Amino acid sequence: MAANPEILDEIASAADLGAVEALRVRMLGKQGEITAKLKSLGSMDPETRAAEAPKIHALRESVTAAIAERKSALEAAELDRKLATETIDLSLPAPESIAGTVHPVSQVLDELAEIFADLGFAVAEGPEIETQWYNFSALNMPENHPARAMQDTFYLEPRANESGGESEARVLRTHTSPVQIRTMESAGAPLRLIAPGRVYRSDSDATHTPMFHQVEGLVIDRAIHMGHLKWTLETFLKAFFERDDIVFRMRPSYFPFTEPSAEVDVGWSMEKGRRVVGGSDGWMEVLGSGMVHPKVIANCGLDPDEWQGFAFGCGIDRLAMLKYGMDDLRAFFDGDIRWLKHYGFRALDVPTLSGGVGA
Ligand code: PHE
Repeated sequence: MAANPEILDEIASAADLGAVEALRVRMLGKQGEITAKLKSLGSMDPETRAAEAPKIHALRESVTAAIAERKSALEAAELDRKLATETIDLSLPAPESIAGTVHPVSQVLDELAEIFADLGFAVAEGPEIETQWYNFSALNMPENHPARAMQDTFYLEPRANESGGESEARVLRTHTSPVQIRTMESAGAPLRLIAPGRVYRSDSDATHTPMFHQVEGLVIDRAIHMGHLKWTLETFLKAFFERDDIVFRMRPSYFPFTEPSAEVDVGWSMEKGRRVVGGSDGWMEVLGSGMVHPKVIANCGLDPDEWQGFAFGCGIDRLAMLKYGMDDLRAFFDGDIRWLKHYGFRALDVPTLSGGVGA
């Protein structure tokens, strides 16, 4: 007896799992047709049995396989239907034992966005793979300018361009300052923004990792001067560290894209054996800043006689370490669950100025 194609067709077109099960019982169940055929082998004479047995077994195998195949197809379709129609309630609270935490970098980013939003700053973003124009040249660091060596840059392989030559190598941005250029170009002036994000330098020890986070601040307007910069930094530092006894000093410095330039140190003091921001037992550097260089403003298509501004750049990870008392930067990026549980924040603790931004 050859495998009966009709029964196989019937199985393949069974409408649902119930129909497949009914066919299984009809063919393979205790009273099933194939079961009956198998039983009948016993009463056959040896010759007929030798001829019939392989056919019956082959039929049983093909029917069994067809049933399994149809069953899994129907189950997959059922799963697809469920995925498409059933939603999961993501607002359901997870048990404390498996609840994740907000990484300190994300927490500090939220705090910064909150503080600067109150001062009228928007958040701007730019790409992490940057052209040398945006990362260096437009910021008044022409090719071969020694200032490029201040930042240990990761260069990407140059890519072949359409005319057969090689395009200039791109870089992993070494700072968030290229976002100044991109936003001045696209949005013009006046402008108030912060640009937080990942930056890259080939550097690695307890206080340097090859990837870290910076936040850039930029204000462009008419008649902006260093007094505005100083007030903004003071307001920001006091709000961020949640202390009124913050003292800071601006030290003359050099950045190619600001003139004059100032490095900013905040005062620290010892509290319970730990160095904290506030007081003035000593100084530590927290950010770079200055008045945007007229050449940078002109590079973005704005008239430096009409528009001035200030900029600052600051390490976000470093801010988090200072505020929340962590001492090894590398731990930020190790993904160690114990560290994340200890230093992470609860997801629904939203920072607000009125409610305080602390944990
Ligand atoms: N981009 C500078 C750095 O990464 C910091 C900076 C930003 C300095 C803006 C001045 C103005 O070192």
